[in-house]
Amino acid sequence: MQRGQITKYTAFTPIDLPDRQWPAKTITHPPIWASVDLRDGNQALSIPMTIDEKLEMFELLVSIGFKEIEVGFPSASDTEFNFIRRLVAEDRIPKDVTLQVLVQAREHLIRRTFESLQGVSQAIVHLYNSTSPVQRRITFNKSKDEIKAIAVEGTRLIKSLVSSIPETKIRLEYSPESFSDTEVDYALEVCEAVMAEWGPTEEEPIILNLPATVEVATPNVHADQIEWFCRHLKNRDQAIISLHTHNDRGTGIAATELGLLAGADRVEGTLFGNGERTGNLDLMTVALNLYTQGVDPLLDFSHLEHIRAVYERVTRMTVHERHPYAGDLVFTAFSGSHQDAIKKGMDARKLESGEQGRWEVPYLAIDPADIGRDYEAIIRINSQSGKGGVAYILNKDFGLDLPKAMHPEVGTVVNAAADQGSRELSAEEVFAVFQKEYVNLKSPLELFSIEREDFSKRGEVQVEAEVSFAGETMTVAGTGNGPISAFVDALQAKGWKDFNLLDYRQHSIGGGSKTKAAAYIQIQNEAGATFFGCGIDASIEMAGLQALVSAFNRAHSTSS
Ligand code: KIV
Ligand code: ZN
Repeated sequence: MQRGQITKYTAFTPIDLPDRQWPAKTITHPPIWASVDLRDGNQALSIPMTIDEKLEMFELLVSIGFKEIEVGFPSASDTEFNFIRRLVAEDRIPKDVTLQVLVQAREHLIRRTFESLQGVSQAIVHLYNSTSPVQRRITFNKSKDEIKAIAVEGTRLIKSLVSSIPETKIRLEYSPESFSDTEVDYALEVCEAVMAEWGPTEEEPIILNLPATVEVATPNVHADQIEWFCRHLKNRDQAIISLHTHNDRGTGIAATELGLLAGADRVEGTLFGNGERTGNLDLMTVALNLYTQGVDPLLDFSHLEHIRAVYERVTRMTVHERHPYAGDLVFTAFSGSHQDAIKKGMDARKLESGEQGRWEVPYLAIDPADIGRDYEAIIRINSQSGKGGVAYILNKDFGLDLPKAMHPEVGTVVNAAADQGSRELSAEEVFAVFQKEYVNLKSPLELFSIEREDFSKRGEVQVEAEVSFAGETMTVAGTGNGPISAFVDALQAKGWKDFNLLDYRQHSIGGGSKTKAAAYIQIQNEAGATFFGCGIDASIEMAGLQALVSAFNRAHSTSS
């Protein structure tokens, strides 16, 4: 890289549009969507899709709701040509779907393209030629007028061929390729010349697609280019202005969204942004961005995992783990404070609106359920996770409702386990750590069995318990107003009671014949330190006693 004064690159010259209107606008309705997965997306694959794979992708796109689908560049390869023929032969094109075909402004290619469309009921013929100064000078070595003439002659030929397939309703799309790098007034001049040749009307408008073939500037510049173009175009109501952004600077989505604010009507792109180099615009993200602003995108991504699976199979591409909406990790919070806030948000939503109200869950831009994803996967545990996440997992997956005061302690223990393994813990592993540290502990004190006698008149309970302490088995006995206080009394009689009971609570887990009880006890030792223990047992009484023994053992194992 050059250092200091960079002479190899220069800043893009901004558009002169001091009274730009787009910054004050909002997007209130969806654009016309056009998928170019089967063309721009396909041509960027190291192994292009087979015809069968293209069919699968076509059907996927139809099921999502795309009504305009660029199916290929039929004059460029037999596969592309035969794919269209197969769609026709097998009657696979729904009535409300328009096929789009790309073609360069060259006579033999245009003629071949028309051959591919025999029997199609409606089609968009997408004509393009490059207009930028670099392309004019280096690739084509042609003047502005010569480049404009290519576009106009191509349009004239297409117009003349329309009557050769009378059963097909043809619309024209024209792209001044590399628009992003073309002088706006020259792009306008070429597009107006194409319009004059084609003769669109308000009822049958032309599509003018203004591609950011290569991103060359910040997205606001793209928006200025689009607004400038829309404001200067003669007969604006006879044209649909279409966007086609690529992603060289990583701002394809932003450029499209600002381009829509700037007046565009239509958007071309691909699923998950597949496409040349850094990709085309990701249509799924733009559509779901609209959705999360309260605008129905009129595309259905409610089974996003299925869409992604088909996409990955037929393109042999993978969706990045952090890809908006679709990545494996985008509904996962590792950070403790995030987990806490998400749990609170989910709980509040359930309580306040029975999950029917407005989506207001911290850290989650969309309800995962809207796109067929799970709450289950939201909270995952690693060394950065906190008390809320661990308590959430134990509650959601194992039915344990830990006392609030226990959350920080358990969180720390589980985080330490994750830290030790330097990895994420599964829900089962979280439970295993909890069990090992807190549940039904047996050393140094183990409770084998207990017998109780009730003296209800005196409000007293007497217990006799079989225990072992530090390996020695014995019987202990005590009295209290319940089995737990009686057992504490028995420990006192042995001189082992060096704690106070602070808290006790219990609940049932599950239902029917498999119902169990969970109990939690907090004790405080003479030094003031507190310890929790948990008991899980089929008997509620035994669960409470096991919780006490576990707390006792934790106090003793820590102090020994
Ligand atoms: O990126 C581009 O400019 C294109 C055109 C053919 C529309 O794909
Ligand atoms: Zn493109």
